[in-house]
Amino acid sequence: MKMEDLERQLQTAFYWFHSHPELSYKEYATTEKIREILVEAGVEILPYNLDTGLVAIVRGEKDGAVQALRCDIDALPIDEGTDLDYKSKTSGVMHACGHDMHITAGIGCAILLNENKADLKGSVKIIFQPAEETSLGALKILETDVMNDVERVWGFHADPTNAAGTIAIREGYVTAAVDRFVITVKGIGCHGAHPDDGIDSIPVSAAIIQALQSIVSRNVNAFHPSLISVTKVSAGTTWNVIPDKAVMEGTVRTMERDDRILYEKRLREIATLTAKAYGAEADIEWIAGPPATLNDKAMAEYCEKEAVKMNLPVAVEESSLGGDDFAFYEEKIPGCYVKIGTGIGHPIHHPEFEVKPEMLFPAAKFLANLIMNC
Ligand code: NI
Repeated sequence: MKMEDLERQLQTAFYWFHSHPELSYKEYATTEKIREILVEAGVEILPYNLDTGLVAIVRGEKDGAVQALRCDIDALPIDEGTDLDYKSKTSGVMHACGHDMHITAGIGCAILLNENKADLKGSVKIIFQPAEETSLGALKILETDVMNDVERVWGFHADPTNAAGTIAIREGYVTAAVDRFVITVKGIGCHGAHPDDGIDSIPVSAAIIQALQSIVSRNVNAFHPSLISVTKVSAGTTWNVIPDKAVMEGTVRTMERDDRILYEKRLREIATLTAKAYGAEADIEWIAGPPATLNDKAMAEYCEKEAVKMNLPVAVEESSLGGDDFAFYEEKIPGCYVKIGTGIGHPIHHPEFEVKPEMLFPAAKFLANLIMNC
């Protein structure tokens, strides 16, 4: 296929994916469209029985390792605020995290590898993964044996802080471990005018919320990035009743494995013992999400060399306390997660976030080269 033709095909595909966003685990039309394009290009699809998402494979004609490329495919519950010709046709759903670009660049990479399989060493599995936004879609893929023979896994993400086509790379931690907690304070309900008859769950919750921030400032090494946010608080039904129960929900973000353990331990102690000091009780639910994304040093260095060889602008990847379930793969296999500039503009998850379509072909080419030359 002529490069200009592939470039045009990728842009057309991208417009389609952008205008047909689907939420996590609902990516049915998306999966079918990916399948249709790949089959037409002669790319083999592996027979995994996934509900949404699929795995393509390119079998190189030379000996070498099995590598994988992860492309996440889901959209977000956001009402699109752009006036693009190809804006979302589904109100309240938008590709605001650039996963439409991930799909398209992944397809382009698969087609380029397939056309060059005579020179490809080993095989490449291109994983079109569902439900990254739930932080758990990667686990669905890991339930299959698809990653068992993979020796290196590559991941990438749209980056609106850099010019289109810029490759941002960092070795070490790039995204945080994402944990969620729910604390339920149980007091004793009573009349609003007779607090002495009960145990008011609201001041107990307030004391817990205040004390939780001391984990960041007093318990964690000040050189380690981390945070705790209480993001939802609910209690009470009306103005003259003291509620017996208050529920707080929030998230903990850490980079270091030991900090993650420390946070859970301190959160449990603070919630339980503060509640006890007020005569109340606290139930704690800790819901562990993906670990921190840790880029392999050798792979990150190699990645930078390849980007420079291709004359692509290179930047230092910003590390973030956001998360990516790509980390679940990296727990098992050495990996590298880079960011590819989509043109400077609104941040991801913003209703006016936009990918400059001219970066699609260079992104696909970069990913294919990265894998071919490794
Ligand atoms: Ni994303």
